[in-house]
Amino acid sequence: MRKKIISVLLILCFAIPQIVKAGEGMWLPIFLKSLNEKEMRKMGMKMSAEDIYSVNKGSLKDAIVHFGGFCTSEIISPDGLLLTNHHCGYSQIQRHSTVENNLLKNGFWAEGRDEELSCPGLSATFIVKIEDITEAILQNVPEGADESKRNEIIDENIALIRDGFEKVNYRNLQIKPFYQGNQYFAIETVTYPDVRLVGNPPESIGKFGADTDNWIWPRHTGDFAFFRIYADQNNDPAEYSESNIPYNPRHFLPISVDGVEEDDFTLVFGFPGRTNEYLPAVAVDQIANVYNPARIEMRDVALKAMDRYMRKDEEIRLQYASKFARIANYWKKWQGESLGLKKTNAIQKKQDYEAQFLKKVNKRRKYRNQYSGVLEDLRQAYKAEEDHRLATSLHYEFLRRNVEIFRLCRQLSLMEGALENYGDQEFDRYKQKFIPQAQGFFDSYRSNIDKEVMGGQISAYKKYMPQALIWPGFNELLRQHGDGDAVANHLFTESRITTYEGLVELTELSPEKFVIAMVNDPLMSLYKGIEDHFNEVISPVFKEKQNMIDELQRKYMKAQMDVFSKKERFYPDANGSLRVTYGKVQGYSTEEAGNYHHMTYLEGVVDKYIPGDYEFDVPQKLLDLYESKDYGQYAAEDGRMPVCFIGSNHTSGGNSGSPAIDAYGNLVGLNFDRVWEGTMSDIHYDISLCRNIMVDIRYVLFIVDKFAGADHLIKEMKLVNPKKG
Ligand code: ARG
Ligand code: GLU
Repeated sequence: MRKKIISVLLILCFAIPQIVKAGEGMWLPIFLKSLNEKEMRKMGMKMSAEDIYSVNKGSLKDAIVHFGGFCTSEIISPDGLLLTNHHCGYSQIQRHSTVENNLLKNGFWAEGRDEELSCPGLSATFIVKIEDITEAILQNVPEGADESKRNEIIDENIALIRDGFEKVNYRNLQIKPFYQGNQYFAIETVTYPDVRLVGNPPESIGKFGADTDNWIWPRHTGDFAFFRIYADQNNDPAEYSESNIPYNPRHFLPISVDGVEEDDFTLVFGFPGRTNEYLPAVAVDQIANVYNPARIEMRDVALKAMDRYMRKDEEIRLQYASKFARIANYWKKWQGESLGLKKTNAIQKKQDYEAQFLKKVNKRRKYRNQYSGVLEDLRQAYKAEEDHRLATSLHYEFLRRNVEIFRLCRQLSLMEGALENYGDQEFDRYKQKFIPQAQGFFDSYRSNIDKEVMGGQISAYKKYMPQALIWPGFNELLRQHGDGDAVANHLFTESRITTYEGLVELTELSPEKFVIAMVNDPLMSLYKGIEDHFNEVISPVFKEKQNMIDELQRKYMKAQMDVFSKKERFYPDANGSLRVTYGKVQGYSTEEAGNYHHMTYLEGVVDKYIPGDYEFDVPQKLLDLYESKDYGQYAAEDGRMPVCFIGSNHTSGGNSGSPAIDAYGNLVGLNFDRVWEGTMSDIHYDISLCRNIMVDIRYVLFIVDKFAGADHLIKEMKLVNPKKG
């Protein structure tokens, strides 16, 4: 019987070529009505598309805020209270922390508005409206124009449209390509520059599990923080001023304290950064088998070197924690991505899809003439760029990411450039700016760690770089000294820029002597040799090859939309614009681990608790609350305290801090991560493994109310009971 069901299912799977499965897709809010509303309702949604996005009346979109341009946040009170992730607010919290008053460690809760902390440089951006301007953008682009001609005309058209836009009152116009450049949209935004820190839990809650648990389910992180938007007396954007008042929003999200159950409809609204869902099989193969292994190993050697020191010394651990996290985040993501691609047979699935595509193309003369060669052209183009893409990726890892001292090298070479191009005065100006920066750099710098990182980078770089693209000077160094560690040893012994004092000495030299010292410094020579080689030899060729691919991907996108026509809905790749994704609260299973439940509870925090451990320590107060089960109205039906839950919403980097919204438009969770095996959803979404991770909003409220005693914040929110009525 079971076999029979499986074979029926298999036949069904092959018989109905489904491109977009429920859960998949990051949809444009302006097209929800025509593309998604019906399905959303079928999945349980009780709202209309108009309730989610409307230009004319207040809608959910008016509560969704691009946070600093890199995360999402949402308004949850009539006084502009903003909720986002702890990891999104991290650098702001860190900036307000001192040794005596450590907000990261102890948490922070402003007791009144006057205690809320200003965050210069942080801004909050709303979407006013989104419009299709494809026609205006592609105007005068001749049929068959090559890529650079096309871009030239598009740039002119964009400039024209920009000229016509009145840039007043913090309003801005973004013009972005969608569907690989087949369509263009204009997005009008308004930005509020006065955003203040209102409250955050201690790291032991907000970052519980840190890097060990990052990208992992089951998860127990209370990854949230509160900010507030301030406006002038007219509710308009204004730079920070004491006379500013809390922003009064067009809409704020009510908060459901009824919680979620398996299969509940959820919608995530936010700003996913970048995805690549329409790559041909050959490109997915390259990611899984060429690029990911190389960049994972580059980071792996760096992380291992850091970790050795961090484990031995608490001071080093503190200095390196956030550097480590920055490198570890995508190191881990890429591993999960490669694994997920393999587990879901993504390459084979893409090949099957391509076979179907070709069959359809070949059926009709109209398509055959236009599209029969596009996949083969793409295959060749991807193969042709492989070496240069790999080299570019390794270059970024080596020079711009993993070796710290190269960041100083970059500054020094900019300074040299200033001298060369603009003379002594500009050189001095650079120097004034540079010295304090360098001081900050050395405050948390350990040259012995960096030396080890360098050694590992040199060896891994040599191993993975296409030999013909390596700068000859690099090979010469290796020949002279033997291996990566020996080269690193030589560089760090001979260079004068690895200590603050040495560096200051150099900058105090006369400009002429400074230039000579730069030439003689072995770290600077290596940096400049590789960087120049990259800019002159690798990068231009890569860009040219990439242009070719862009053109073909655009054609392939159009072809898919033509050929599969109305039956299939296509969503555009993420590009930092506002998107809606929807799915259900749902667990998942893997062969090795069996079933994963959709929710975690406070018990799990206590299970993971390791006293004194920097990732898994827990505040005593939280343990006490757990003992007394003092969860108030925030407990689940069964009396337990929920912490996180997962769903089939298709999210990506940039969706951090996005609200998870229930069928009625209430806030139920806060998005902050994805499950490890599902991170390939940026390339290939598969409902069996792709889950986003959200903090349960009841845990947020519980921490604010019971743990922090900040009930004045609860009072300004609107708590509702949509299920209990
Ligand atoms: N993986 C999440 C994201 O991509 C969280 C990263 C922050 N947390 C960390 N432990 N590094 O942003
Ligand atoms: N943590 C990610 C972010 O900061 C979101 C998780 C993801 O990539 O899905 O945007």
